Amino acid sequence: MAAKVISGNEVAAEIRAELKTRVAELKEKGIVPGLGVVLVGEDPASISYVTSKAKGSKEIGMFEETIRLPEDVPEDEVLKVIDNLNKDPKYSGILVQLPLPDHISVENVISYISPEKDVDGFHPVNLGKLLRGEPCPLPCTPHGVQQLLVRSGNDPSGKNVVICGRSNIVGKPLAAILMQKAEGANAVVTVVHTGAIDIAYYTKQADILVAAMGRPEAITADMVREGAVVVDVGVNRVPDSSRKRGYRLAGDVDYEPVAEKASFITPVPGGVGPMTVTMLLHNTVESAIRLSEK
Ligand SMILES: NC(=O)c1ccc[n+]([C@@H]2O[C@H](COP(=O)([O-])OP(=O)(O)OC[C@H]3O[C@@H](n4cnc5c(N)ncnc54)[C@H](OP(=O)(O)O)[C@@H]3O)[C@@H](O)[C@H]2O)c1
Repeated sequence: MAAKVISGNEVAAEIRAELKTRVAELKEKGIVPGLGVVLVGEDPASISYVTSKAKGSKEIGMFEETIRLPEDVPEDEVLKVIDNLNKDPKYSGILVQLPLPDHISVENVISYISPEKDVDGFHPVNLGKLLRGEPCPLPCTPHGVQQLLVRSGNDPSGKNVVICGRSNIVGKPLAAILMQKAEGANAVVTVVHTGAIDIAYYTKQADILVAAMGRPEAITADMVREGAVVVDVGVNRVPDSSRKRGYRLAGDVDYEPVAEKASFITPVPGGVGPMTVTMLLHNTVESAIRLSEK
């Protein structure tokens, strides 16, 4: 079987078009969704992520501002910036680009963001709500995975979903999203990690297999059930001297052989990647609506 490719670029474009319409309608009511991004230091990957968030915001007609702070900024200065963003009605969403320098506590910074403006969905209050099945901003990458599944006609309801990886930003929140008794969820979820003695034992039983390990091409065809839906969250740089930049991007899935067995598969790049920023834009629009109703 040759798998159908689930294009994150196409699904993201579809959602962004919907968001653009919603933003235009909100503007007519005097509501302008606004995103405040805090960037500490000059990490090239972080700069690139922040740039794509700014570009995406502009594309859908939202207000966006990036506050750049030097690498050696003290933690309390970062908290002061967040405090100002929390109080300023121009911003319906706030995000602090991770990773942060070692002298700044990620937990302190995230907890300082008002849960109402936490568009990354990482605040402990929002993660608690997520687990309880209460309305809250969903963490962007796992929410993007859910949208890819639903919009490609692969409703997770009743399916055996196996997630490889239990990070706080992907594996754990994705498990929490998909296990809820809710539309677009209601799956039976298993999470595997380095504590599993035989990962393949679990992956082979998956109707929907999500790889989020950060291990290039670790999911091989023999680990995948015939006809499974495979979502590859991994983005890994693999040295490649034939490329000008010296590396190529690889997912956590051994793409070609797995695509021969799967019914659906997401590529890397162009799969989950474009969904993450899109769901951030979605969360900011939702947040603007909620704040305007208060
Ligand atoms: N496309 C996007 O927008 C996006 C967003 C976020 C992340 N990513 C990518 O997704 C991947 C995962 O990111 P992350 O932040 O979740 O990574 P992470 O924090 O490093 O977590 C990796 C998880 O995978 C597990 N793991 C690692 N090797 C394993 C193995 N051989 N067998 C089973 N489990 C294994 C780890 O288990 P333990 O807990 O036991 O250590 C851990 O739970 C990375 O490639 C990252 O670049 C992409």
